[in-house]
Amino acid sequence: MSKSIKVKGFLQDVGGASRVTKLREENFAKGSPIPDPHDPIRELADKLHPEHMIFKVVDIREASPSSRVFRFESADGHIPVFQSGQYVNFRLQIGESLLSRPYTISSAPYEARGEHPFFEITVRRNVPYLVPDYLFENVKVGDELEGALPFGFFYWEPMRDSREIVALAGGSGITPFHSMAKEIANGKMKGCKLTILYGSVKANDIVLKDELAAIEKACPDVKVVHVLSDEPDWPGEKGFITREIIEKYSTPDCTYMFCGPLPMFRFVKKALDDMGVPVRRFRHDVVNNPADVSTLPGYPKGTEEKTFKITVVRGIHEDVIDAKASEPVAVALERAAIKIDTHCRNGECGFCRSHLLEGEIFVSPIGDGRRRMDKEMGWFHACSSWPLSDLKIKIPIM
Ligand SMILES: Cc1cc2nc3c(=O)[nH]c(=O)nc-3n(C[C@H](O)[C@H](O)[C@H](O)COP(=O)(O)OP(=O)(O)OC[C@H]3O[C@@H](n4cnc5c(N)ncnc54)[C@H](O)[C@@H]3O)c2cc1C
Ligand code: FES
Repeated sequence: MSKSIKVKGFLQDVGGASRVTKLREENFAKGSPIPDPHDPIRELADKLHPEHMIFKVVDIREASPSSRVFRFESADGHIPVFQSGQYVNFRLQIGESLLSRPYTISSAPYEARGEHPFFEITVRRNVPYLVPDYLFENVKVGDELEGALPFGFFYWEPMRDSREIVALAGGSGITPFHSMAKEIANGKMKGCKLTILYGSVKANDIVLKDELAAIEKACPDVKVVHVLSDEPDWPGEKGFITREIIEKYSTPDCTYMFCGPLPMFRFVKKALDDMGVPVRRFRHDVVNNPADVSTLPGYPKGTEEKTFKITVVRGIHEDVIDAKASEPVAVALERAAIKIDTHCRNGECGFCRSHLLEGEIFVSPIGDGRRRMDKEMGWFHACSSWPLSDLKIKIPIM
């Protein structure tokens, strides 16, 4: 039987409140006049989620002919709590450049809380790429990398999302769903059923193929459907992830979650729009900037060939650096070894927020996460803005 709440009446309640106030005043009077610099809540938060951590590589293994899993442990054994779909941000020095790159955690959250806590990332290396090349060629077991976690909002949320999840993945976009599948197979995310539609070109391109097969075998709530676009003898689904394929594996009111490259996002988004899927049932991860900025709608074609100067103001310091029009402002800063904090690298999180003092920039229309007031006051996100002229910008001191 529920216990009823007794309302004492207006005067008695107010009288009670005045007693509390009196007690507070007495406690204040007894307190030290020297302010206590300690903020235990802030200190605990900093301890549980440090701004920077050092992670040791404890294992490296193949996840396909072109991808590798890197397993990390932290020096003190503590790995901040994260959810399937969130990412770790690594800071790296490659040659003269100071860089940071996000990688979705491909292991499951429960694995970061066991007797030997760890987390894993799965990195794909296809065409000549900068950071994957560095990780594949230089990083070995025993090395330490600087990073922080967790970041990002791409995770399943029970108050908002359906327990029937249809994941749409392409390439290394399988990583959040591999984490989620492991979590479900371990009895977490109770009642969830996950169907992964995973698009690859050829069978050899499938990342974490054996791992996914093992999870599927062990857990009836996880189903993996490979859709191959260039493997004529493939016995399963062939072609792209079309509306027909999505409908075939959907359940009424399921939540769709997408993670993959930009062209695939456009294709899948159109299919879901055609199916009449409301926005609340479609979750997608941040999508990388396109390799060629001139393909973005509204970009003044021909400008991408040019090079500009950027005057970078940090406090009382001013540096003048070169910037290719074809690269975001954050990349120009990184090349010049000027520290800029980046996380999502697609205009959404705001960590790279900078102030445009002079000049003209092109802002990506894909992930312009700026607030209206920021736009009006000349703030921009350096990771997803390209110079259209010489610039003068002010960035935070790091
Ligand atoms: C949220 C999120 C999660 C991700 N998760 C994964 C994942 O799980 N697995 C995975 O494989 N990938 C993942 N990625 C992609 C990953 O972060 C990298 O973008 C990818 O590995 C390619 O890295 P890259 O530096 O070679 O290329 P990009 O990140 O595309 O950056 C290339 C940029 O670096 C510039 N550049 C070239 N040379 C230099 C230089 N010397 N100095 C400075 N800049 C230079 C180039 O001009 C270009 O603009 C994720 C991305 C995001 C946004
Ligand atoms: S790094 Fe997220 S907005 Fe630039």
